[in-house]
Formats: sequence, structure tokens, C-alpha cells
Amino acid sequence: MDVEAGIVRLKRELNAVILAHYYQESEIQDVADFVGDSLALAQQAEKTDADVIVFCGVHFMAETAKILNPGKLVLLPDLDAGCSLSDRCPPDRFKLFKERHPDHFVATYVNSSAAVKAMSDVIVTSSNAVKIVSKIPADRPIIFAPDQHLGRWVSQQTGRDMVLWPGSCMVHEIFSEKLLVQLKVQHPAAKIIAHPECEASVLRLADFIGSTKHLLEFTARDDAREFIVVTEVGIIHQMEKASPGKTFIPAPPDNGCACNECPHMRLNTMEKLYQCMKDRTPALELPPGLAEAAARPLKLMLEWS
Ligand code: 13P
Ligand code: SF4
Repeated sequence: MDVEAGIVRLKRELNAVILAHYYQESEIQDVADFVGDSLALAQQAEKTDADVIVFCGVHFMAETAKILNPGKLVLLPDLDAGCSLSDRCPPDRFKLFKERHPDHFVATYVNSSAAVKAMSDVIVTSSNAVKIVSKIPADRPIIFAPDQHLGRWVSQQTGRDMVLWPGSCMVHEIFSEKLLVQLKVQHPAAKIIAHPECEASVLRLADFIGSTKHLLEFTARDDAREFIVVTEVGIIHQMEKASPGKTFIPAPPDNGCACNECPHMRLNTMEKLYQCMKDRTPALELPPGLAEAAARPLKLMLEWS
């Protein structure tokens, strides 16, 4: 069976839109209606008039689409596609953390569960975190959760002190400073570009730091011919499409692999995408009340973006 043709046919039959994150395998990116970063995908989910949203990404992303569209069917090819960062911030522990800082304004990265979002004042993504944090009233102290590395970087960019939840992403924290320096020695003309979820020691080596979308835009407009890409390797597919003459070298993680893939994102496959559309399952469901509570800080983010 031609899986791709089957997906295209089901898309028509269901009046579905397929949204895919840059960290999905390239075949999924190519069959999607829209490929983007966390912010762009949330914005697309908010404005779509499709009946069904098929989300090729991880659980918190599909959950965000469901929060913004409680009445729509939101499908995720593999419901087990979670996120280590989101998992490291359980709602019960976050509630206690928040109670220790009762006067703080809570800015939460979109890589979090709906229950943690519901306890937040505003949501941010890596594309808009600097802008959103700058808008928080100057007299309010801030909690930033759950990514400490993104939080530290945003704090440097905005000059705002923040209490950081000590979380991190398993993909971005295993880039090695030592291997990156060795790669730069082999490719002295290459610019190092990194995602702000990386550790400070890695970010210090970067010529440019930004969200996946900002990294992609930087490689398209910059004069360099070679880039060392310090984020999940899936983004290189779009970089190569946007700049066919340029070379993109994936930064090596500290685990012996040549490039770094998010094991959660990679649970989605073309076959699972086809099957979920055919069966109209697995679908995202949220307990009554939770979607409304999580929608408030999400909608404030979309307004402030
Ligand atoms: P962005 O899509 O905001 O760049 O985030 C990257 C990421 O880790 C998504 O899980
Ligand atoms: Fe979560 Fe990191 Fe994977 Fe993004 S790359 S989904 S933050 S584990």
C-alpha cells in the first residue's frame, strides 16, 4: 500500500489538517500541511477551520491544540510520544513550588502538561519567551518553568531575575562542549547555531541562539556556507530545503551517536500517521474544566505574541 497516498486521501475524507513539528522525520514533514515550531503550530491550531487536527509532534503540543479547540477531534499518531522536560515537572510538585513563591508571576514554557499550564499566568515558547517575559509588569517577581536553561538565557536577554524550576530536555542537555569544540576545529568557517534549551557551556560557544524557527531563518539569511546545528537533527531537513547550497553539520551528543534525535518525537511514523487517521484514534481528551483553565494563559500568550 502507498502510505503517503492513503494519508492524502484520508486528509480529504476527514477534512483534516496535518500539523508537524520540525523534529518529525522528513517524510512526515513533507506530507504535512504545515511544518513549524511550537509557537507557529499553536497559532495554526488556533485559526484552522478543519474538522480534525492531526498533530505530528509530542503530547503537550497536541494537548495545546486540543485546549485551543476543545470541540475538535485532535489526533496524535502515538499517544506515548511524551516529553522528558514536561514529565520532569509533575503538577503536584509544581503546586508546592508555586506555593513557596505566592507573589510571583508564573511564566511557563509550552513544553508542560495542561495541569501545569492551568497553574500559570502566561505561557511562552522559545520563539517568544524574551518578548513575553519583557511584558510582565516590572514590579512582579517571576517563576519560570520548566526549562532552567531556556529560563537562564531569557533572564540574561531581558535582565529580569527569575526563580527557575530545575528542569531540562534530555535531547538538548546531552550536547557535549568538548565534542563541539573538536567539530569547530575541523570546520573553522562553520557558524555554531544552538537552541536555548542547551546548557550554558554549549550556548557560550554559539554564534547564534534561537528557537527552531529562528535558527532556520538565520541559516537562510546569513552569509556563512556551513553551520553546526546544535538542536534536534530533524530541523536540518527544512534548512537544506531553504538553502540548498549550504552545508549543515549536526552537533554530536555525548552518547556516541553522530546526531541527536528526540526519542519521543520519533515515535511517530508514517504508518502510525496513516493508521490514526484511518481509525480516528488515538485522540486527545482532557478532563472537564482543565481545558478552560489551561486556555487562559495560552490565549494571553497568543495575544502578547
Ligand atoms: P521550539 O519548537 O519552540 O523551537 O521548541 C523545540 C522543542 O524542544 C520542542 O519540543
Ligand atoms: Fe521534549 Fe526535548 Fe523532545 Fe522537545 S526535544 S519534545 S523538549 S524531550
